[in-house]
Amino acid sequence: MEQISIPNNLEKKQKYEELLPQLFGLLGEDIPLIANLANCSAALKEVFNHWWIGFYLVNGQKLVLGPFQGPVACTSIGFGKGVCGTSWEKKETIIVDNVDLFPGHIACSAFSKSEIVVPIIKNQQVVAVLDIDSENFAEFDLLDKLYLEKIAHHLANFF
Ligand code: SME
Repeated sequence: MEQISIPNNLEKKQKYEELLPQLFGLLGEDIPLIANLANCSAALKEVFNHWWIGFYLVNGQKLVLGPFQGPVACTSIGFGKGVCGTSWEKKETIIVDNVDLFPGHIACSAFSKSEIVVPIIKNQQVVAVLDIDSENFAEFDLLDKLYLEKIAHHLANFF
């Protein structure tokens, strides 16, 4: 049986510390990419229960919606557009404490208040981004960046 088991009462750092080995055990190079990304978004949703957690995959000049957990979302984002497209362009993680203050933010949901977008980089190229939205302002910090970048680095192996 595939499962992620993390006690709910742990601090965020401890949740990530327990999640990563379990998650990396769940994912595999012999598993189709979409299945790996789907399980990764589901595992993050189970542990952190953020509003929206998912992937946009680079497809030509656009990011196209991939596996996610949460409400329906926009299907296509241009290079340099929104938080996701900006993360793609800059090849770096972007933390937005208040999405209304981010110029060009693409609002897929009125409930989203803060956001983190982490690029997945393979051979110096962004191949996808991991996007997480929260209903709370300033939900994400450098600890999320640290661990989500470890996850993104691991996921790059599957592209
Ligand atoms: N807010 C993102 C768009 C994707 S949704 O949040 C799922 C952005 O500005 O790129």
